[in-house]
Amino acid sequence: MCGIIGYIGEKQAYPIIVNGLKKLEYRGYDSYGICVLNNNNVFLKRKVGRISEENSESEDKGFIGIGHSRWATTGSVCEKNAHPQEYNGFYVVHNGIIENYKDLKEELTGKGHQFNSDTDTEVIAHLISDEFNGNLEDAVRKALKRIVGSYGIAVVSPKDEGKIVIAKLSSPIIIGICADGHIIASDSSAVIDYTKQIITLDDNEMAVLRKDSYIISKEKKIETIDWENDSVSKGDYEHFMLKEIMEESKVIDSAIQGRLLEDDVKLGGLETSKERLKKANKIHLVGCGTGYYAAKTGEYLMEEIAGIDAEAQMGSEIRYRNVRLDSNQAAIFVSQSGETADNLASLKKMKEFGVLTLGVTNVIGSTQTKETEGGVYTRCGREVAVASTKAFIGQLTVLTMISIFLGRQRNLNSEKAKEIILELKNLSKKADSILGDCSKIEEIAKKYSQYKDFWFIGRKFNYPIALEGALKLKEISYVHAEGTPGGELKHGPLALIDENCPTIAICPQDSVYDKMLSNMEEVKARNGKIIAIANIGDEKVKEIADDVIYIPKTLECLFPILTTIPLHLFAYYLALSLNRDIDKPRNLAKSVTVE
Ligand code: M6R
Repeated sequence: MCGIIGYIGEKQAYPIIVNGLKKLEYRGYDSYGICVLNNNNVFLKRKVGRISEENSESEDKGFIGIGHSRWATTGSVCEKNAHPQEYNGFYVVHNGIIENYKDLKEELTGKGHQFNSDTDTEVIAHLISDEFNGNLEDAVRKALKRIVGSYGIAVVSPKDEGKIVIAKLSSPIIIGICADGHIIASDSSAVIDYTKQIITLDDNEMAVLRKDSYIISKEKKIETIDWENDSVSKGDYEHFMLKEIMEESKVIDSAIQGRLLEDDVKLGGLETSKERLKKANKIHLVGCGTGYYAAKTGEYLMEEIAGIDAEAQMGSEIRYRNVRLDSNQAAIFVSQSGETADNLASLKKMKEFGVLTLGVTNVIGSTQTKETEGGVYTRCGREVAVASTKAFIGQLTVLTMISIFLGRQRNLNSEKAKEIILELKNLSKKADSILGDCSKIEEIAKKYSQYKDFWFIGRKFNYPIALEGALKLKEISYVHAEGTPGGELKHGPLALIDENCPTIAICPQDSVYDKMLSNMEEVKARNGKIIAIANIGDEKVKEIADDVIYIPKTLECLFPILTTIPLHLFAYYLALSLNRDIDKPRNLAKSVTVE
C-alpha cells in the first residue's frame, strides 16, 4: 500500500514529484524514493523516513521522473527496499502486491539474476529487463503477463527514455493532462495542483506517456475534477489529531446542514435510490477499522430507528463469506478516504450480486464515490491524522440521518422523527461543552498512562463505541486495549481484570444503564479500576467508579456521538503522556490501499 507519482513534460520533474508525494503520504510514510532521468543520466534517491521532511529543491535534475511513498508489505523498512526498485536500468514504482513473486524470484535467480532487495516489486524490474527488446511498453506488457497480484506501476528507463509506462490492476492510477506535459498518480489529490483534467485507468489497462502525447489501449473519457485540495494546517495545535477532535462539534453541524426537515431528512445522494431503498429488506453496512465501528453503530441505529434488518460487515471479511446477497438488499460503504481496498473489493462483489451500493464517504471524488450508485458525504473536511476521529463523528451523524430516511419510508412515525431531528440540531452545543472542558480528561489520561492493558465496555449503541475507544488507544499509544459488550465480561474477559487492568465503562443513562452499573460492580469486585463516562449529575456511577468523565444527556440513539468524544480525547492525552508519534503512529497509514 503506497503512493506513486510520475511526471513527464517541460518542467523540472523533481519538485513536482516531491510535492505530489507529500499529498500521497497518507498512503504510507515509512520510506520514499524518487528517480529522475536526464539524457541518459539517472538521479536516484531512496530514503527511510518521511517525504514531509524533504524539501523540493529547484536544482535541475531532468524532465521525466517517478516517485513513491511506501508502506511496507513485502520486505522490511530500509533503504534497499524503498522504491523505485531498479534492475539493469529499469526503474519501477509499485502500489500493490505481487503474489507469485517468490516463484518468479527463484526462476530468475536460476537464470543468473541477482536481487538487491527483499521486495516483491523488484521482480517486475527483472522481468521487464528480461523481456526488453528496445521498446519499454512491449517489455512491460510481457512482464505483466507473468505476474499474479495487484499493481499500479510506473516504469522509466534510460534505455528507452522520453516516456513513462504505467499499468493498473486493482490498485488505482490516474493520468493528469497538463498544459506542459503529463502527471500520473495514485489519486487526484497529487495532481490537482497542476491540472483538473484527468483520466482514470481501468484494470488491465496500460498507458504510455510522452511529453506531448499519451497512448492508452482504448479511448478514454477526460474528466474534470470539481474540487480543490483544501490546504490544512495544525494552527495552534500540537497535533492534527487534537485539532480534528476539537472540530468534532463543527462536524455534526456540517453533516446536518440543509439536510434536516421537520420530520424527515433530505439526502440528495439517495434520491435516485429512493424506490430501491423502500423495497430493500436488508442493509449491509461495510467498513474497516473505525469505519467498521461506525457501521456497527449504524446497524443498531437502523434496527432501532428504521426497523430494518441491518448487519455490519468488515470489508476484509465479507468478500470471502457466503453471505446471501441479492438485489433486494442495499450495502452502505462507510469510509473516510473512500480508497480502502478491502471495502472496494467488497463493493465489487456486492455489485456482482445486484445489491444496491451506496457510500458514506468523506473524500470527494474518491474511488468509493465513483463506484457506488449513490451516497452521502460526511463533509468533515480533510482529516490528516492517521487516527480517524472527526470522520467517525461525521459517519455517525450521517448514519443517524440515513436511519431516519429509511425509517420514514417504513414505520418511523412523524413525532419520533421530529424528536431525533430536534435533538440532532442541539447536539453540537452538547459536543462543544465536552470539548470546552477537557482538562479533567487530560488529568485522568495522565493518571492512567503507565498502565499496559485497558478494557473498554459499553452496551447496545455504546458497544461499538467501546471498540472505537480501544482501537484509538492502541493505535496511537501502543498500549494494549480491548472492547467488549458489558454483558460479555462475565463470559471470559473478567479473568483478566485486576488492579493492573483498568476498565473504561461507557454508562450514560439509557435503556441499558442498570445493566452497565452491574457490569461495573463486577469489575470493582475484582479490584479493577474504573473510569466511567456518565451523565452530568449521576451519583450512582460516581459511587462505583474511580474516575468519572461527565457528558450531557441526549436521546439514547444519539449518545454514541457524545460518548465518543471523551474517548478520543482520552486516547490522545494518554499517547501524549507517553510521547508517541500521535499523527503518524508506527506501522500504519492513513489509507489502506492493499487487501
Ligand atoms: O478511510 P477509511 O475510513 O476507509 O479507513 C478505514 C480504516 O483503515 C481506518 O478507520 C483506521 O482504522 C483508522 N486509522 C482508525 O483510526
